[in-house]
Amino acid sequence: MRVHTAVIPAAGLGTRFLPATKSVPKELLPVIDVPALQLIIDEAVGAGIDHLVIVNSRNKPSIEAYFADAPEVIDKLEASGRAEMAERMRAIGRDVQVSFVYQHAALGLGHAVGCARDAVGDEPFAVLLPDEIMGSSELLSAMCAVCVATGGSVVGLKRVPMQEVSAYGVIDPIGEIDADGVVAIRDLVEKPAVTDAPSDLIIIGRYVLTPDVFEAIAELKPGAGGELQLTDALRVQAARGPFHGVLRDVRRYDTGNPVGWLSAVVELALDHPRYGADFRVELERVLDRDPS
Ligand code: UTP
Repeated sequence: MRVHTAVIPAAGLGTRFLPATKSVPKELLPVIDVPALQLIIDEAVGAGIDHLVIVNSRNKPSIEAYFADAPEVIDKLEASGRAEMAERMRAIGRDVQVSFVYQHAALGLGHAVGCARDAVGDEPFAVLLPDEIMGSSELLSAMCAVCVATGGSVVGLKRVPMQEVSAYGVIDPIGEIDADGVVAIRDLVEKPAVTDAPSDLIIIGRYVLTPDVFEAIAELKPGAGGELQLTDALRVQAARGPFHGVLRDVRRYDTGNPVGWLSAVVELALDHPRYGADFRVELERVLDRDPS
């Protein structure tokens, strides 16, 4: 048994990034020269995923268009000697089977994942939130391995300073974190006050879930913000156990808001093999600018 399907919920309204997201889905906002969604796909493929289920909204047809053939552009690139870019264009979506399902209204992340039930089938699957970019596939690979070994769902974890926990979902661990960064979880608490937080370990936007989560999702009642919350379905699974977290000190960017997106673009651009050196010079010039 291995995890080979990943669900990417992409049907949200992207209100924190308006007005840009009025016509461009936030999943397609560029991170240097690729859409954020492509980085998520690369991460999934790197962890062994070969089937993507994208949960889309009928109002965001450009997400589907990103995977369409582009013969005119490719012919032009080849005719002008840009074979490398022609090959990159051809490779979009080639290493994976991409399925689309539709969420008729943005009723919450739990509901969005539930829309993927038939496309996923009766097997464990990953969920990647496309507005969180990780530096590599390592966390997701480790999470898939823990799911297969334990037979239970797994969430990605990050340690944050205690005063920041109130912005996140926080886990209540059972015992210590082992040498591989794995910890058993008793419960999850959404946005606790600092004094009530059971730990400083927050849930980041990566999940590997056993298919019984779909039954818990089907039973969901509107939670925080009137939405059907994935966390509420995970709490049902955690109460039954086994349910684990995998802790990594990953580079993680929240590209769903303007400052997080800017941080991702600047930091990744500085490391970029092609643009990094030029961009560093430009950035230093900007930083040296007389503030008046
Ligand atoms: P977010 O809450 O970050 O996205 O959900 P949002 O709702 O689009 O953004 P804001 O808060 O209004 O700015 C995390 C992911 O889950 C998807 C979103 O598209 C995003 O990628 N999502 C969220 C759905 O697919 N459906 C929903 O009902 C809610």
